Amino acid sequence: MPHRCLSSLELTAAPMEGLTTVVFRKIHAEFFGAADRYYLPFVTPTIEPRFTERQMRELSPQANAGIKAIPQLLTRRAEDFLWAAHALAELGYDEVNLNLGCPAGTVVAKGKGAGFLGDPIGLREFFDRIFAEVLPIKVSVKTRLGLKNPEEFPGLVELYNLYPISRLIVHPRIKTDLYKGDARREVLLTELPNIKPALGYNGDIVTLSDLCSCAQNFSGAPGGLVELMVGRALMADPALFRKARGKEPAGRDEILAFHNALFDAYAALFGSRKNAMMRMKEYWFFQLNLFGENDEISALQKSAKELFRTREIDQFQRCIRSIIDSYALLSETRYGWRKTL
Ligand SMILES: Cc1cc2nc3c(=O)[nH]c(=O)nc-3n(C[C@H](O)[C@H](O)[C@H](O)COP(=O)(O)O)c2cc1C
Repeated sequence: MPHRCLSSLELTAAPMEGLTTVVFRKIHAEFFGAADRYYLPFVTPTIEPRFTERQMRELSPQANAGIKAIPQLLTRRAEDFLWAAHALAELGYDEVNLNLGCPAGTVVAKGKGAGFLGDPIGLREFFDRIFAEVLPIKVSVKTRLGLKNPEEFPGLVELYNLYPISRLIVHPRIKTDLYKGDARREVLLTELPNIKPALGYNGDIVTLSDLCSCAQNFSGAPGGLVELMVGRALMADPALFRKARGKEPAGRDEILAFHNALFDAYAALFGSRKNAMMRMKEYWFFQLNLFGENDEISALQKSAKELFRTREIDQFQRCIRSIIDSYALLSETRYGWRKTL
């Protein structure tokens, strides 16, 4: 039985550069059942109105066959957004997401991502330009609360309300929070009655009960709550959405097979098992949180040290197998990646 509080909601995979790649999306859907949507890590359209071969690796329809994929654009230039939106519609996509949340210094310095939030006049001109056309594709937005101050949020909501944004996904942090501290859910709650577009919530959802409490807390927006988006906790517990739909948690054999499938697919893509191992370490930074009861944590930390230090593929694979075999497999992941502000 699906959890009742979640039955009408889409459970979606957050875009995560380097993690929710074409390789991950396909293999995750195969092993654990597809998320209702997978947002693609951002693509930056340039003045040259064509996607590069590298970008097409993620965007081609074949790369996303059988799943609902939403490409994401990172830009502040309406012209670049427009050509890319048309090109995405031609590839068969029915929605494109605008990134107004990336906090990376190099992105923000160019006024993109969360940096664009600090320029409401520019943002208004951007939306005026893109919505002046009848676009062949819906436009959703993923936003933070503001650049420097959560008090920017009400003004941003007023702005978003002026346009036919198909869905507004809110990650309730400001740029300077990066991913630290707790999501400022109270700011979103206060503003909830004013948000007209259909709402998606993203930020610090770790467990099933987090999914349910977010479903309840954020359901009162006029446009309705339509999705809960999860990033890091889905890397830690790839069966999170399957559990939310009333099915079984991840088993040890399944985690091992999933790991091996990802490893092999990255090795094929990169043409290098060493590079694939580096990538797998990024997943295991999160995945380790699904293992070890409290009294096993210090031993697990030692195993983790060995796992992250090794440069040898055989040793790496031995470490993975030993962690999977030796430590308790938890029914819910720990929030081990939380960083204080
Ligand atoms: C490694 C990494 C890569 C990310 N890449 C993107 C991205 O390409 N586009 C985007 O909108 N957000 C990106 N994010 C932010 C996530 O989509 C999400 O908003 C964030 O992780 C908070 O959600 P969570 O608490 O469920 O993880 C990234 C986050 C991380 C940690």
